[in-house]
Amino acid sequence: MDFQDKVIWVTGASGALGLASALTLARRGATVVASARSIETTDFGGADIHRLPVDVTETSSVDRAFAALLARHGRIDGLVASTNVGRFGDFLDLDDDAWRAVFEAKLLGSVRPVRAALPTLVKQGAGAIVLISGRGGIDPPPHHFPGSSVNAALDLLVQGLGRRYGPDGIRVNAVAPGPIQSPRLAEMRQGGQAPPANLQTATPGPGLPQDVADAVAYLLSDAARFVNGARLAVDGGGPPLVR
Ligand SMILES: NC(=O)c1ccc[n+]([C@@H]2O[C@H](COP(=O)([O-])OP(=O)(O)OC[C@H]3O[C@@H](n4cnc5c(N)ncnc54)[C@H](OP(=O)(O)O)[C@@H]3O)[C@@H](O)[C@H]2O)c1
Repeated sequence: MDFQDKVIWVTGASGALGLASALTLARRGATVVASARSIETTDFGGADIHRLPVDVTETSSVDRAFAALLARHGRIDGLVASTNVGRFGDFLDLDDDAWRAVFEAKLLGSVRPVRAALPTLVKQGAGAIVLISGRGGIDPPPHHFPGSSVNAALDLLVQGLGRRYGPDGIRVNAVAPGPIQSPRLAEMRQGGQAPPANLQTATPGPGLPQDVADAVAYLLSDAARFVNGARLAVDGGGPPLVR
């Protein structure tokens, strides 16, 4: 997996999984453009990563950011969308604003960068997109319905986009993490927001951000040249079977 001469845009790059993905791609030679609202203060540990602030809830912000990326680098070869906000709670306690926040940050927050980058990818005739969904998309924890619904939507979206743009040389896939050691997981655990069953993994877990980053790198790479429209679970195999 060599990303020399490849320009890859990572959104949510101040978060645990986006940061690990950005660092992994940079280590493998990519020119990484990292985005988040707080990206200017993100610690990349000295890695050579370009910072590009963006608010994915605003189409104009995303379009401006992509225009700046293109002006500076002249091309784009890959996109990783890894944004979200945590809105956990019982169904009856989550109001419209909570649902909207997750739709804006994760569903539309993924759609907007894809929409901004696709015309250039198509013009170039090659490229790969990875959306980060999540295990909740097929196994929704009771306190995580907004995020789980969006995960299911993203899993479907990559199938549709993969079919629509595969003929143009663009592959679109999802990585669906299970519980990954991260501030977000700690938050869910502390609040009792994830019942133990939802944190179970067949392979002893939780996983690490690096596990997700390696899957992202694989899907972006030529090693995955025939993988398109797929949902790659990085969840240790899901809950062990109850005997
Ligand atoms: N961690 C897990 O165990 C786990 C499991 C399954 C799925 N996932 C999914 O994996 C993805 C990444 O998770 P994570 O643990 O890395 O989450 P995280 O640490 O909370 O990171 C979320 C990222 O989204 C960015 N973001 C939020 N709102 C934004 C906005 N309006 N504009 C631009 N950026 C915005 C945040 O940056 P700013 O706040 O600086 O903007 C941050 O970089 C999420 O979609 C999450 O649902 C995570």
